[in-house]
Amino acid sequence: MIALLACGGGVDAPDDHGHDAAAWGSPAEAEDLDPADDVVHVELTAAPRSFEVGGLAIDGYAYNDQNPGPTLRAKAGDTLIVDFTNALDADTTVHWHGVHAPNDMDGVGVLVPPGGTFTYTLPLETAGTFWYHPHVDVDRQVDLGLYGFLVVEDPGEPVMDELLVAFDTWSELDEEEGDAAKDEHDHGMGDHGTPVDPDTLTWTANGVVLPSASFDGPVRARLLNASNTSYLDLSGVGLRIAGEQGLLDTSDTSGHVLLGPGDRAELEWTRTVSLEASPYSVAGGATLGEPVKVLRVEAAGSPADWPFAGEPPADDPGRTDLVYVFSGGDHGEAWLINGEAWPDVTPSVLALGTDAVIEVRNLSATEHPFHVHGHAFEVLSVDGVPVASRQVEDTVNVGIRQRVRLRMLADNPGEWMVHCHILGHEEGGMMTVLRVE
Ligand code: C2O
Ligand code: CU
Repeated sequence: MIALLACGGGVDAPDDHGHDAAAWGSPAEAEDLDPADDVVHVELTAAPRSFEVGGLAIDGYAYNDQNPGPTLRAKAGDTLIVDFTNALDADTTVHWHGVHAPNDMDGVGVLVPPGGTFTYTLPLETAGTFWYHPHVDVDRQVDLGLYGFLVVEDPGEPVMDELLVAFDTWSELDEEEGDAAKDEHDHGMGDHGTPVDPDTLTWTANGVVLPSASFDGPVRARLLNASNTSYLDLSGVGLRIAGEQGLLDTSDTSGHVLLGPGDRAELEWTRTVSLEASPYSVAGGATLGEPVKVLRVEAAGSPADWPFAGEPPADDPGRTDLVYVFSGGDHGEAWLINGEAWPDVTPSVLALGTDAVIEVRNLSATEHPFHVHGHAFEVLSVDGVPVASRQVEDTVNVGIRQRVRLRMLADNPGEWMVHCHILGHEEGGMMTVLRVE
């Protein structure tokens, strides 16, 4: 059981934003109620919370009265038990994004009503940077502040200070978008379905605009894009060490990472880094405009000896077991997968144990982060070009007109959601079901 607070150094936010200088850093960790080995047992409550973020007053929601919610931390092989209470005025669920969860613990089927409770029991098999969020009225509930990190550690990896950063944009939220009836009427498109002007976006990092932190030694940074709609095109990131579900095959020194909504990446910092986000439009990728600074961190030291697997990316066996085609979304119509809009969908089926090759094609006018529940996959190629480095992911961006091939072991029985992680698209129909049986 690891219960240390992750920040090791002094952290502060810039004075001109008027924030409490001591308050910025990794989201506080949840208390483990039962410090027995191999079990992490926490309490999680979703409740309304009013807070101020990026200059906006939000009548929002929070887990355990904090935004981001408490970080849940365990080791691979542990069991996580979450006693969840819904103190909202709406039905909710908790979905464990990226976790190889038993189907009935995935936070999709079983609604927790206002005042209700549910105990989620999750065997944590894979190390990585996961996150949790609701999976009902998701566009509204996540935007109001319901999300947090779930970190699963690999005890074989070097131990160092960690900095967990959830990036979010809040300009997506307006009074009308909070109206669920309207969302239903227009398929949740509204502002969420149409491209957000990248120039007017304000990114926050753990709720603060352009914070800074300093550490005496090296830092392992775990980044999450928790925004509903907006892409984070980051430069100056330093060394990338891991994707969403574990270390890369070797470190990536490109200094650049694109995080679509729902994406995570892990970095190691051994010197001062200043992260910048370049304007990026969902309707066309990198776009004109000046980059904005989003985070500055001082760190020092030399890179750790990461036990990179050194394995090359998986081969493409040249067959295709499943095809998902993204389309729709034009002129107020629904967002579609294989021509269908949730909930009127035909499940695709894979036999349990299939070493499946999945091809995702995007015929629509915007990009889409493709996400599958309960499974991890490797990206094989983009537009026929094999990826350079092995990455185990659960969410991958599919650019306009792109064709992305994935290799996924269908090893988790049940009915699983497959959807775009732009939450307005998901609510607007871009979700289907994969049955593994
Ligand atoms: Cu992060 Cu189906 O969700
Ligand atoms: Cu989408």
